[in-house]
Amino acid sequence: MPTLTWLGHATFMLENGAHSLIIDPFLADNPVAQVKPDDVKAGFVVLTHGHDDHIADAAPIATANGATVIATLELALHMQSLGCTVHSQHIGGAHDFPFGRVKFVQAVHGSAWTGPNGTLVADGGMPAGVLITLGGKTVYHAGDTGLFGDMKLIGERHSIDVAILPIGDNFTMGPDDALYAAELIGAPIVIPCHYNTFELIEQDGKAFASAVSEKGMKGLALDVGESLEF
Ligand code: NI
Ligand code: MN
Repeated sequence: MPTLTWLGHATFMLENGAHSLIIDPFLADNPVAQVKPDDVKAGFVVLTHGHDDHIADAAPIATANGATVIATLELALHMQSLGCTVHSQHIGGAHDFPFGRVKFVQAVHGSAWTGPNGTLVADGGMPAGVLITLGGKTVYHAGDTGLFGDMKLIGERHSIDVAILPIGDNFTMGPDDALYAAELIGAPIVIPCHYNTFELIEQDGKAFASAVSEKGMKGLALDVGESLEF
């Protein structure tokens, strides 16, 4: 039975007894994170796109753990240049790993990374959402994205057990669009993320979860550090 733990923002740990993955690690400079990058034990690091609030701690965690970074090609090459072992994929492509399967799907957003002074360094191509299957259960982490109609297709084409959706607004979907997204995807459990990290993306996660539950799915607003077994 896999365990999914919210570490704050878009960062999640997905684990079972045998394998441990971290998605979009943003911890050291994340004002709400309780876990430090040095404390993370992971065999794989999965990245949705190149924005700093998704990859900030990817290289330190990957190199310290000897973990493989799984990302779209352009971002994988960037992580390789930082000394990481990488596996590159791209939108629509799935691959089987020792723990299970990873498939990248579209997201409507950007994917550039920045230098230490915040200047734009490179455009990382298309951002992604990702479907991760571990222990026979599939999690869809939508990445940073606006609402798009093909979320319905993603829901139809995959058996999704848990959907993780951004609700922060401003940079991604807000709660209203994320609620509509949840209905398009049709996963039985929906977890909000990418909110309350900064003042600009403050939202009421519990209210979002209640709205999801009223639509017949289970909305679950985890606290930072809280886990779901599913
Ligand atoms: Ni982003
Ligand atoms: Mn983001």
